[in-house]
Amino acid sequence: MSVLRLVSVVGARPQFVKLAPIVRVAGQRGDVDHRILHTGQHYDSAMSDVFFEDLKMPAPDADLGIGSGSHGEQTAAMLVALEKTFSGERPDAVLVYGDTNSTLAATLAATKIHVPVAHIEAGLRSFNRKMPEEINRLVADHCSDRLYAPTPVAVANLEDENLGERTVRSGDVMRDAVNFNIEQARRSSTILDDLALEQAAFSLVTVHRPANTDGANLELLLDRLEESSRRHLPMVFPVHPRTRAMLEKMGYQPPPTLRLTEPMPYLDNLQLLDNARYVVTDSGGVQKEAAFLETPCFTARNETEWTETLDIGVNRIVHDGASGLLAAIEEFMVSPVEFGADVHRQIDESYGRGDAANRIVDDCVEWLS
Ligand code: UD1
Repeated sequence: MSVLRLVSVVGARPQFVKLAPIVRVAGQRGDVDHRILHTGQHYDSAMSDVFFEDLKMPAPDADLGIGSGSHGEQTAAMLVALEKTFSGERPDAVLVYGDTNSTLAATLAATKIHVPVAHIEAGLRSFNRKMPEEINRLVADHCSDRLYAPTPVAVANLEDENLGERTVRSGDVMRDAVNFNIEQARRSSTILDDLALEQAAFSLVTVHRPANTDGANLELLLDRLEESSRRHLPMVFPVHPRTRAMLEKMGYQPPPTLRLTEPMPYLDNLQLLDNARYVVTDSGGVQKEAAFLETPCFTARNETEWTETLDIGVNRIVHDGASGLLAAIEEFMVSPVEFGADVHRQIDESYGRGDAANRIVDDCVEWLS
């Protein structure tokens, strides 16, 4: 039996979560040799190692140790190192995930030397080209040979760009990850006790997008979060390193109702999301995890790639520095979102039921042989 050699390239926190279901499924097969290559984009233990531990993944087979830099510096350093690795190893295919600079670099490095590329979480669009992630997605989708689209909306976006023939609707690997890990999180996470939190008596907030953290926007956003944490429910705010750097520069002192913490490990984050009354976020992944865990979401951005969550009614956009946040939360307090059977059906129809990794690995084997 011939063995298919697949290399997954990851580098940033959300990619470790998307990788885990693929590692598990590929590891159960005798016909796939799956390796993990870490670019080193996220290097802090709390942003990287902890995720490999929580998600029970083996350490990466290789770590390029690239680290931070401007977009050009970071991507260029990755390109040089990845081209060398792929030229030496010549895997049967490279798997890339999501929309980070690691995704962009791996896609370009592999396609240029004719190593096939499969893009997991293809077809997402914010239609906002000011986001670095949007550029990364466009390049990754147009250069990849196989496109695993998580939702019908993603499939339609790819068809609109004449990429339908390479597209496979796979469902969302983040759903696989939540389904597989939520019971473990409920059993083993001590984060509620550690932070003295009671179920549904707090809200959660995460902020890391440049549009929110850079410039005057962060001050505006913090004002609204502070006000909400006083008027509505106290907030727990695990702080991303980019945001932490900005807060330190400002000399920010939060009020007691807005509790800043280190970035959360995966299982603790699931436990917080599962128990929060609602979440305020600018993360893509958290919007979906919230929907899967029946937690209403307020998205502090001007648009979202995950438009299904808006249509289903479990997510609301609060524009420009969360300008409508206070009013949106007050409205929600009066008539909360019901996670009834109809909502569950729509979530399943959009994101699948948690078998995306199986579909992807099965399809890879068929496609490449
Ligand atoms: C990246 C992705 C984004 C993803 C996010 C999740 C791109 C363009 N963006 O953004 O799509 O949603 O990851 O977190 O790839 N830093 C540390 N320690 C770390 C990692 C980063 O201190 O372990 C600091 C660095 O100083 C850096 C800043 O955080 O300047 C931002 O890191 P970077 O990798 O540039 O992008 P993210 O903002 O994390």
